[in-house]
Amino acid sequence: MAEFKEISADAPMSEKALTWIDNRFPLSKLYKEHLSEYYAPKNFNIFYFFGALSLLVLVIQILTGIFLVMHYKPDAASAFASVEYIMRDVPYGWLIRYMHSTGASAFFVVVYLHMFRGLIYGSFRKPRELVWLFGCAIFLALMGEAFMGYLLPWGQMSYWGAQVIVNLFSAIPFIGPDLALLIRGDYVVGDATLNRFFAFHVIAVPLVLLGLVVAHIIALHEVGSNNPDGVEIKAHKDEKGRPLDGIPFHPYYTVHDILGVTAFLLVFCAIIFFAPELGGYFLEYNNFIPADPLKTPAHIAPVWYFTPYYSMLRAITGEMMYALIVCVLAAAYLGATRAKISNMYKAVVVGAAVVGVALMLAIDAKFWGVVVMGGSVIILFFLPWLDKCAVKSIRFRPDWHVYLYAIFVVNFFVLGYLGIQPPSTLGERVSQLGTLYYFGFFLLMPWWSTLGQTKPVPDRVNFVAH
Ligand code: HEM
Repeated sequence: MAEFKEISADAPMSEKALTWIDNRFPLSKLYKEHLSEYYAPKNFNIFYFFGALSLLVLVIQILTGIFLVMHYKPDAASAFASVEYIMRDVPYGWLIRYMHSTGASAFFVVVYLHMFRGLIYGSFRKPRELVWLFGCAIFLALMGEAFMGYLLPWGQMSYWGAQVIVNLFSAIPFIGPDLALLIRGDYVVGDATLNRFFAFHVIAVPLVLLGLVVAHIIALHEVGSNNPDGVEIKAHKDEKGRPLDGIPFHPYYTVHDILGVTAFLLVFCAIIFFAPELGGYFLEYNNFIPADPLKTPAHIAPVWYFTPYYSMLRAITGEMMYALIVCVLAAAYLGATRAKISNMYKAVVVGAAVVGVALMLAIDAKFWGVVVMGGSVIILFFLPWLDKCAVKSIRFRPDWHVYLYAIFVVNFFVLGYLGIQPPSTLGERVSQLGTLYYFGFFLLMPWWSTLGQTKPVPDRVNFVAH
């Protein structure tokens, strides 16, 4: 237990109050540890805005969500009308609803940029593996949160989107149909589905998200922030134990973040006030039509932030399965002939490949599509152990690594674009190639990340005062 501080009688009221609290709750200690004495590298760039912005959007979503729940009705017969009521009759209801719907897309924009920053500067590497793992868990929770929230307005896209995605679970062998039934709570998407998605969307997932965000930040502050050079600032400290290249988070980065928050709010408000549907990307036009279980829309596409994964799901056709089988066999061949492992392990590799190929032939491609779609997110969890490059930051990697990362980003956009489009032969082929690149990038990383000549990493961070 911390030492009990005496409160001097002639101290100002504010000091007395703070000492009283500090004797009972570590307020000053927390403030120092996480703000005024948290030393962050002095060379942060604009990519470091997005953690704070993710926090901001989380707060916006929770606050606007509370007000929406006051007027929303989680009932299949009245949900759509209650959203219309919020938009037309509740004072400023339109603003709250547009803040929440734009906030959902903004969340993914800032989180994708935040993840991308981690990817290029190697922030997922030792000692920040747990920061990354908590981040990946946040991303999964966020996807669940967005998916379930999308059912609530009970429009055509809400209904049919949920129908398509929940039906995917029924492709899982043996347990699939029962699992889909459990998720829906009925044989079709209906009132029971709406009720349980509502419960998850407003309380269960937000609680998990908040817990994960706290864990994410505690883990980060335990090991300290990375920076664009990927140099550990704790390696050089002054006589008081403060990193020479570190500056206190408060006031330096709290003030710095105001710039990012201002720029973000300008764009956010511009969208809310001038283009809340953003051409159908943030709010799909079909969702302004009430859900009709008897009328399937001609084209069902998820919201933009899910489309890269949706593309990968659609890429797994019966034909594509042969390409995947060739990949599995090639991997097993390389493992058995090239890897420096004992004969017993080699036999295990060959056995696993044979079983894998047999399962790939026996089970419908739809199931493997679901596996690929799930795998495209799950693979992110393994990143800290896939990257074997001698340096962390992209700044000191061989130039051609930069091209691989650039193609990865372009590929992700192309997959995202194709996921919005109606199916086509050309689109299918391109998304199949895109899926192979996406997985190849990660699965072959232990190999390619060790190749090429890295550039010398400086001892201290690069920083030019501005
Ligand atoms: C609600 C979502 C999230 C919030 C509120 C959040 C918040 C934060 C904050 C405030 C920081 C410190 C400031 C900064 O470095 O930008 C941070 C750092 C970090 N976050 Fe997140 N984060 C979220 C999601 C994610 C996700 C999805 C990932 C990755 C899968 C991730 C990975 C990281 C990493 C690796 C760092 C350390 C970066 C470094 O030191 O260079 N975060 N996060």
